[in-house]
Amino acid sequence: MRSHYCGAVRAEHIGQEIVLCGWAHRRRDHGGVIFIDLRDRDGLVQVVVDPDTVDAFKTAEAVRGEFVLRIRGLVRARPAGTENANIGTGMIEVLTREIEVLNASATPPFQLDDDNLSENIRLQYRYLDLRRDAMQKNMMLRYRVAKLMRDYLDGSGFIEIETPMLTRSTPEGARDYLVPSRVHDGMFYALPQSPQLFKQLLMVSGFERYFQITKCFRDEDLRADRQPEFTQVDMEMSFVEENDVMDLVEGMIRATFKQAMDIDLPNPFPRMAYAEAMGRYGSDKPDMRVTLEITEVTDAMKAVAFKVFSGPANDAKGRVAAMRIPGGASLTRGEIDACTEFVKIYGAKGLAYIKVNDVTQLNEAGLQSPIVKNLSEAALKTVMERTGAQNGDLIFFGADKAKVVNDALGALRTKIGHEKGFVDGRAWAPLWVVDFPMFEFNEDENRWDALHHPFTSPKDGHEELLTSNPGAALSKAYDMVLNGWEVGGGSIRIHREAVQEQVFAALNISEEERRNKFGFLLDALQFGAPPHGGLAFGLDRLVTLMAGAESIRDVIAFPKTQRANCLMTGAPNLVDEKQLRELHIRLRNTQPVAG
Ligand code: AMO
Ligand code: AMP
Repeated sequence: MRSHYCGAVRAEHIGQEIVLCGWAHRRRDHGGVIFIDLRDRDGLVQVVVDPDTVDAFKTAEAVRGEFVLRIRGLVRARPAGTENANIGTGMIEVLTREIEVLNASATPPFQLDDDNLSENIRLQYRYLDLRRDAMQKNMMLRYRVAKLMRDYLDGSGFIEIETPMLTRSTPEGARDYLVPSRVHDGMFYALPQSPQLFKQLLMVSGFERYFQITKCFRDEDLRADRQPEFTQVDMEMSFVEENDVMDLVEGMIRATFKQAMDIDLPNPFPRMAYAEAMGRYGSDKPDMRVTLEITEVTDAMKAVAFKVFSGPANDAKGRVAAMRIPGGASLTRGEIDACTEFVKIYGAKGLAYIKVNDVTQLNEAGLQSPIVKNLSEAALKTVMERTGAQNGDLIFFGADKAKVVNDALGALRTKIGHEKGFVDGRAWAPLWVVDFPMFEFNEDENRWDALHHPFTSPKDGHEELLTSNPGAALSKAYDMVLNGWEVGGGSIRIHREAVQEQVFAALNISEEERRNKFGFLLDALQFGAPPHGGLAFGLDRLVTLMAGAESIRDVIAFPKTQRANCLMTGAPNLVDEKQLRELHIRLRNTQPVAG
């Protein structure tokens, strides 16, 4: 139907007759001459319709935005002075000889080149939204990144194996999406939260290097970087240690950035222990471009009169930490209040601060702050020395359970860092976070939870701690962090049944529950499971960062809203009574649709 793509017509085609297909992006009437910007996947080209070509002109007069057209015409140079250096086709135009309307279009609900569209309208008419240049580029980048990763893994001896979507609950810690069984009354499949157990079983089966680009499903509270169904680049290897996996996937990410965007990422990526990341950045996924740091002052606050500080300082789970903002004394009262409101999102009860006017006077004369009178000179001295405070600085404080302090100051660090320009100028700052704890304490349920998942191997020599001091046991887990986003995570797994049983015991998972939920894995570990480990990338997150998009929804063709709706199809929705009956389901509240 066509001889060329719209976006590919160039000066070299001048004098040729070509045939183009595409959408009428814009139509302008210029005193007798009609201009149409014709758009296809490749780009835009200017089409000119002269009144002398009577039939074509008549057709062109009826053309509206998003009509689908086929145009035969002559490529010619644009008149001097009307060239457009910003687009590839800017030197030429196509003088129309014939136009065929392949299909009309209703008036679109929005202008495709409007940059201020509400996301709801975009999601409702996603098929139109996807016509927009930015979305076309995002989807193509996504395809290219997936292809490059697939090629890299293929070249490294991995084979892609599909694992089931209808399966049993997997232990990644989110709620499952359940699928009722028609054949088995009262029973449910779970959609996989990840292929974790299957990929480990594939190692037991001897495939040695597996990967899969696959959907995962998690029913959790949604945020800008989370979707209920998302895509992992999932992989597993046998006979490897942490460094083998990390080196391989690091190479894959470097190659992907180089080939997709001509970006050179550092080689190797820096590594940081979890404890250091939490201590200095309050986060296990620190944005390393931000130069602000958090300073430990818990030990210095144990004896101060200020209860807000001495309380957490004397609590084993408490933390008091400071964050120095260079030159921050110029922050206005309003800005400090806004920061105080911001940290409340993370559960902080306040945000104490000191304005440093004269660092040599450790009292109310040199330090401007409502809390200085309640802090000892020794404590203030420690704060000034450790933070490296200078005259004109501001120091923020967090005091609470360590988790609250870390969440609050960690988030404030990133916010102020980007808003006030405390960044080092790097476009890309990858980081491996390593040496994670095996467990984290679940205060609500008063028990230990796996920090990654319960199949993560403890560090060599830490098996003893699993029972004696679970909180101190470290694991062979690693997360890849890019610009403050966790883009991937994995670990070396437990391949001996005895260690797996110890971890289940530490997690207080009963014998019965172990058999019931993971019996097939425990059985498999008895039949010569090789040492193995792997990792999974969040493809959506990685592409979001590469595309410079704001939310992962912008790199997913048909995403869900924050409330897990698809505004286009209307999913989720009611179903027929008959369907429910077959599935042995009776609803508690809502009525099904009759039918
Ligand atoms: P994890 O749970 O860390 O590990 O998931 C791997 C990566 O998937 C991405 N991700 C998400 N992306 C979008 N929306 C979500 N709701 C979402 N949840 C996770 C993140 C994350 O780093 N089985 C292990 C991997 C392994 O150990 O090999 C796993 O699933 O980028
Ligand atoms: P107050 O003693 O409640 O008047 O608080 C004095 C200062 O300490 C104020 O600036 C509060 O914002 C701050 N503050 C209160 N609670 C905390 C906390 N848990 N961590 C850090 N600062 C706090």
